[in-house]
Amino acid sequence: MLANMSQWLTISRAAHLLGISRVALQKRIRDGELPSFDGMVTVDDVQRAWPQLDLDESGSFEKTRAIREDAFARRLRERVLPTQETLAQRIFVQGQELAELQRTLTRYHRLFETLRARLDGTPPPAAADLAQLLDEGLARALSAPAPGEDVVALDAMLRVMSAHVTVKPSGREFFVEGSETLLKAALRAGLSPNYGCGNGNCGLCKARVVAGEARAVAPSDYHFSEAEKAQNHVLMCACTALSSDLVLELLEAGAPEDIPEQRIVAKVRRIDALNDDVMRLHLQTPRSNRLRFLAGQRVTLGASAGVAGGSDIHGEYPVASCPCDDRNLIFHIRRADRRSASADFSKCVFDGRIKAGDDISAWGPWGRFVLEKGSARPLVFVAVDEGFAPINSLIEHAIAVDAAESITLYWASAEAGGQYLPNQCRAWAAALDEFSYLPLAVDELLSALKANVALSQSDVYLAGAAESVETLAAALRAAGVSPPQLHVEAL
Ligand code: FES
Repeated sequence: MLANMSQWLTISRAAHLLGISRVALQKRIRDGELPSFDGMVTVDDVQRAWPQLDLDESGSFEKTRAIREDAFARRLRERVLPTQETLAQRIFVQGQELAELQRTLTRYHRLFETLRARLDGTPPPAAADLAQLLDEGLARALSAPAPGEDVVALDAMLRVMSAHVTVKPSGREFFVEGSETLLKAALRAGLSPNYGCGNGNCGLCKARVVAGEARAVAPSDYHFSEAEKAQNHVLMCACTALSSDLVLELLEAGAPEDIPEQRIVAKVRRIDALNDDVMRLHLQTPRSNRLRFLAGQRVTLGASAGVAGGSDIHGEYPVASCPCDDRNLIFHIRRADRRSASADFSKCVFDGRIKAGDDISAWGPWGRFVLEKGSARPLVFVAVDEGFAPINSLIEHAIAVDAAESITLYWASAEAGGQYLPNQCRAWAAALDEFSYLPLAVDELLSALKANVALSQSDVYLAGAAESVETLAAALRAAGVSPPQLHVEAL
């Protein structure tokens, strides 16, 4: 029974094991290439569909190895033994040994079942037949692993190195690698949990452990009430998963109104030119005061009179980075003309008056240009010039959460070669099978969109300067994109 149970995998765990996205695996299931039952697949079927799967080719194994190498480097640095990483490594080895034992036990179990079936038969078998059956069965039990058994062993190893977390009530899932915190792992997977300081003080990241065990990996000053303790509450920013499978009940932001307005002061880490008219501004928040936002939202940035040379200035910009890295905020600042409300802030960035090490205030987040929750439609992103900034954040988030079977990015520019991060777009297209990137001139955009036969079945996200996106949005609605499927951000 134990062996039979271990040969079923959830779709998330099978995808993790194969190093592919959950959406890609679900597509294989829908295409009839992989049978599934009640959200589970068997190890035998996985092995049949991916006969080439082995330890060295698996993306998950690469990840496991990277974690081990990182753990090893830290152990050398700390020079204190035994550390948590040492223990993790020993458990890893023991996991391998246990997997081997489990494999052998499974074969003995099968032999035992066969023998019992034969003994129950009529007439009972002769002693010589039984001896032959036993000899052959034992030879099989001691032989090299059969197809499928390697997958069980690999899964056992991965269960040691990464824990699988199911979130209630949303049903979302994520993996915790090594001993990273539950909060970090959830953000990396594109979830939007409730949290504040990220530092064990505010208590906003409280979650209830419904099944499994979590343990603290960072100090915390927050005091739980007796009722919270009795209900197994933990702080996601201070705890990791101890058991391989964990079920957590937690609050998640489902819409922009679930995220409170915040005000933080961040440091300019770096400013660099992406082309003649666009600067990349990289801000880093303090460890204990991060900015919570949804991919695609905007914030207001402000520089003090001291930095700006006389008066406070501010500008509103979309965050170009993903909420999964809430300490590092990236903005694409365009050289603005005098009519723009953000002209003074932009001028300070281009003039070099705002520089690395300066304090910048950030408050927000604002806007509803966020991914439609629960939609499984293909995603079409349309950026016009610096409209790429919120699109970049949305794409990174969509990739993290496996949001769609296919993603198409159209990036149109008024200037030849105005797509200021072409390598990043090409890298997405090269790394992801279902990602297409089309750089275009602005006047080619509408006809290219109309030529997309899947457009009316897609969710379309369009961002750019107000005058260009409003005309385009009207044309897209006329071309059959229904209003609920069309999301527009006029900058
Ligand atoms: S985010 Fe403040 S305690 Fe976890």
